[in-house]
Amino acid sequence: MEHRMGISFLLLIIGVCWAQHNPNTLPGRTSIVHLFEWRWADIALECERYLAPNGFGGVQISPPNENVVIAHSSQPWWERYQPVSYKLCTRSGNETEFRDMVTRCNNIGVYIYVDAVINHMCGANVGAGNHATCGSYFNTKTKDFPAVPYSDWDFNDGKCKSGSGDIENYHDIFQ
Ligand SMILES: *[C@@H]1O[C@H](CO)[C@@H](O)[C@H](O)[C@H]1NC(C)=O
Repeated sequence: MEHRMGISFLLLIIGVCWAQHNPNTLPGRTSIVHLFEWRWADIALECERYLAPNGFGGVQISPPNENVVIAHSSQPWWERYQPVSYKLCTRSGNETEFRDMVTRCNNIGVYIYVDAVINHMCGANVGAGNHATCGSYFNTKTKDFPAVPYSDWDFNDGKCKSGSGDIENYHDIFQ
């Protein structure tokens, strides 16, 4: 009896590990690579020239959706994490190039893993205007992102249990 429980437990552990280690790649392909800030056209070529022939299973890409252009510090990497809309239009390329990359990589067994930023829009201090990678208008003061469209109704600001209503202390789980 004890012995059988031991075996069941062992099988359970193996099952759990198996599930955790499913890499969501084609069989035998267990490595992915992060091509941070690469252009879609270059990634498509990289899939064909290097990644597929060398057995890579996937590529993680930078966020593909429209972001704020941070001009004052020459477009730092973190502007990719300042969404303005979900149009596939960034300095990595447009929607046509994105589709072409996904098709060409998938056709030879390399999957595309998208870094998706869906829990916030751009920072409040970037103001208002059309300085976005696809030229979409936004206004952070009025929380207006008509290209999605999002408005003030879609945000949860001012709801923290703190003096300002914003997160003041990241060690406070209630904030
Ligand atoms: C996407 O970008 C490519 C390369 O710059 C360009 O040739 C093409 O016209 C663009 N397509 C759209 C729909 O903007």
